[in-house]
Amino acid sequence: MRARGVVRPPGDKSISHRVLMLASLARGTSELTGLLTGADVKSTARVLRQLGADISRIQESGVGISGSRLQTPDSRLNCGNSGTTARLMLGVLAGQNFAATLTGDASLRRRPMRRVTEPLKHMGADITARGDGLPLTIRGGKLRGLTYTSPVASAQVKSAILFAALTGGVAVTIREPYRSRDHTERLFAHLGLGIHERDGAISYQPSAISIPAFSLAVPGDPSSAAFLVAAAILADGGELLIENVGVNPTRTGFIVVLERMGAHVERVNLRDEGGEPVADLVVRPGPLRATEVTAAEIPTLVDEVPVLAVLASRARGSTVFREVGELRVKESNRLELIAANLRGLGVRAEALGNDLHVEGTEKPPRGRVDTASDHRLAMAFAVLGTVKRAAVRLSEKQSVAISYPDFFRDLKRCFG
Ligand code: S3P
Repeated sequence: MRARGVVRPPGDKSISHRVLMLASLARGTSELTGLLTGADVKSTARVLRQLGADISRIQESGVGISGSRLQTPDSRLNCGNSGTTARLMLGVLAGQNFAATLTGDASLRRRPMRRVTEPLKHMGADITARGDGLPLTIRGGKLRGLTYTSPVASAQVKSAILFAALTGGVAVTIREPYRSRDHTERLFAHLGLGIHERDGAISYQPSAISIPAFSLAVPGDPSSAAFLVAAAILADGGELLIENVGVNPTRTGFIVVLERMGAHVERVNLRDEGGEPVADLVVRPGPLRATEVTAAEIPTLVDEVPVLAVLASRARGSTVFREVGELRVKESNRLELIAANLRGLGVRAEALGNDLHVEGTEKPPRGRVDTASDHRLAMAFAVLGTVKRAAVRLSEKQSVAISYPDFFRDLKRCFG
């Protein structure tokens, strides 16, 4: 199969959530283009509408949002499958003078929330939960400032605290073990909100002014582009041009790792879009060699481990991903499922402690994959299914609607 053509990945999921929240808190009408139309972003829009925001239909061509003071919702806020919706909205709600109950689907209800509720409680939010997960009830109100060192490198934790500081009008300083994606910081800076970084600590000092309404074009999601990059590397020939991809260095660790593995991923036409670096990617097929992915690199590629593991299974040698225990609490237990599914396709792969080991092979992958309804597992293994003489059957395909509704159409068009 050859790579051919030009493709644009859907809008960045992380940025889409954040701009919807910020526009809902802003004074006036904001205009957003390039938003992801996936189910997770629709969950955020639905929750914000329940809180009184006026948001037009979510479409890539443009969405209008009239912000307002958020109001008590008349029912539970269902965050669907979206961890980002739940965790960031907890921050937004921490500074509101009313109670709201958040819940989600079975996968989301299993995911840890204490990492966010702990610091928010320190700030003065009143949160009642039965265990570590959803459903939970938050009553926001008068908050106090916080200086916090997060035990995990998590953009969701960091962003929840920043949103709480914004809605509560208090100052915060946050440190994290490794730098996680910095979209919230960039958006705050772009909107002129008082955010600074010094010696790795992020400080936000609220000013009296309210958030101005804004216009913004959301760049393409590098995490979605990663699947196309991977399929192009595994192709037998040709070249793929992937347009309008966000290349924020806190997100593009997968490109660094792929280059170390011998791949050619060229960034062209580098530009700035709303405070985020954006480029087009030119990808050509080629052989890969194994590598070691370090713990420090993981936050910059945390969502790309499934597809990198798939590529490692086609590389020469044995690849190890260090300290990927966090993958156990993503949309599924990704750590165990990557290893188990690779084994089911004839690849030697194992989770040892918090490390993931994958041995490359030239044998065609054949067998059934349990995606556990996890979008990134479905797409990663679909990519593996494009190699010569592969026979990969996915347990389901619908989950791609979470982050890349047109994934199978694009895959067929560029590699079919
Ligand atoms: C996200 C942060 C990451 C990532 C998730 C989106 C975000 O999660 O895995 O897909 O938009 O802030 P963590 O903050 O839990 O690392």
